Amino acid sequence: MKQTHALVVDDEPEAAEVIQLLLQSAGATADVCYSAAESLERVPRGQYDIVFTDLTMSGLDGLELCRRFAANQPDVPVIVITGNASLDAAVQALRVGAFDFLTKPVDPDLLAHVTQRAVNHRRLRAEVKQLQQRVANIASPPSLVAGSSTMRRVLDMVDRVAVTDATVLITGESGTGKELIARTLHERSARRGRPFVAVNCAAIPQHLIESELFGHAKGAFTDARNARNGLFVEADGGTLFLDEIGEMPLEMQAKLLRALQERAVRPVGSNQEIPFNARILAATNRDLETEIAERRFREDLFYRIAVVVLELPPLRDRAGDVPLMAQRFVQRFAERHGKNVVGISPQALQAILWYNWPGNVRELENCIERAVALAAFDHLTPDDLPARVRSYQPEQFVIEADRSEDLITLAELERRYTARVMKAVNGNKSKAARVLGIDRRTLYRMFDREQQGGSNSAPTSDLPEPGR
Ligand SMILES: Nc1ncnc2c1ncn2[C@@H]1O[C@H](COP(=O)(O)OP(=O)(O)OP(=O)(O)O)[C@@H](O)[C@H]1O
Ligand SMILES: [Mg+2]
Repeated sequence: MKQTHALVVDDEPEAAEVIQLLLQSAGATADVCYSAAESLERVPRGQYDIVFTDLTMSGLDGLELCRRFAANQPDVPVIVITGNASLDAAVQALRVGAFDFLTKPVDPDLLAHVTQRAVNHRRLRAEVKQLQQRVANIASPPSLVAGSSTMRRVLDMVDRVAVTDATVLITGESGTGKELIARTLHERSARRGRPFVAVNCAAIPQHLIESELFGHAKGAFTDARNARNGLFVEADGGTLFLDEIGEMPLEMQAKLLRALQERAVRPVGSNQEIPFNARILAATNRDLETEIAERRFREDLFYRIAVVVLELPPLRDRAGDVPLMAQRFVQRFAERHGKNVVGISPQALQAILWYNWPGNVRELENCIERAVALAAFDHLTPDDLPARVRSYQPEQFVIEADRSEDLITLAELERRYTARVMKAVNGNKSKAARVLGIDRRTLYRMFDREQQGGSNSAPTSDLPEPGR
């Protein structure tokens, strides 16, 4: 095993040298340093495994030294040595992050023992960190539930495009699973095992986004003391996921387009291009075609990223997913919270199925987590669900046809119901077609029929505009 390399800090040279000798006879190497301030300067450069410090020193004292190490180099254990067996001071040192303490005169065996323990601890910490990183890299994303035919089609597409390097645009309302799909794409591609770097374009201040993505040269701006790689380069060999791309400022969109075309980025303040090898995925909950029409999104960039488009419908339009997901979430959260919940009562499931889930899968997930945490029985009951879910009243569609003269034809029923749906979706024809389970052209044909001979009660504002 590698020899332990220690630093001893004490403003009394003889005291420091005693510890140094004791450490050497325990098989370690040790440097000494006569002030806390100096040791702080030295440590970032030197590779010490452990630091011993006297507590009372002139200038910066041992306590402050512990604090600084705990803040800046938490991996390096600090052992405090107290003179007059002042336990109070030792306890205080432990509180601010010292690993252990020894009292003077220092017992050689105890010193050897404490050193060994601290060094083992440091090694374990480093190993755990490494393992965590490795696990984070290989851990597959939470498994994706696909009960509806829509989601199965999406998964099918995922498998087909995962193996290519094509840029994929994932669209859908908030909480529909865009990020999960992006991770799944990465995991099912040859790039798995390489980094998956996700960046939320909406969360980065506009003036930082360029350097975040492309990196910056040393001195590019006031805070840039060192050159830094951007995320394009960090995702090397892996996948870069540009989340909320619809929020990207126009000026940045132009630079992004250029980078995608050249397959190279130019760090801020540098005139050198760095090629990158990352697969690009993007997601948005905005309707980019509208954004383009209103000149908030560049059309050329859209075509660059939308090589393949994966559209995630809202959860209310894929009822087939709901029971399966709910059951999967029950299992997951029962395990996580150590609860003995195994399923969902028929009444609770009924409520879950009725509800329209405006927050999509994320809302369902939160709702089940809360329910599992509250559950008093081994099956969730309606009482475990939030009131909004438990007492949701779907809008009713009632045909008043109890008198024979009110009876209507199927065509009339179709007409009324279609108008009703159009109203509910604020005139959005793609949505209406989805709700009705027909394609858009069929919907237009219905409107055409209406225009030609239909009743004048047709909601004229809902008529399709030509060419859409
Ligand atoms: N098909 C699915 N199966 C299982 N879990 C899912 C599925 N889709 C989404 N989830 C879960 O729902 C939550 C929300 O998903 P995700 O964060 O991917 O949504 P999003 O579309 O990126 O949302 P936002 O637009 O708000 O960022 C996550 O915890 C995710 O694991
Ligand atoms: Mg997201």
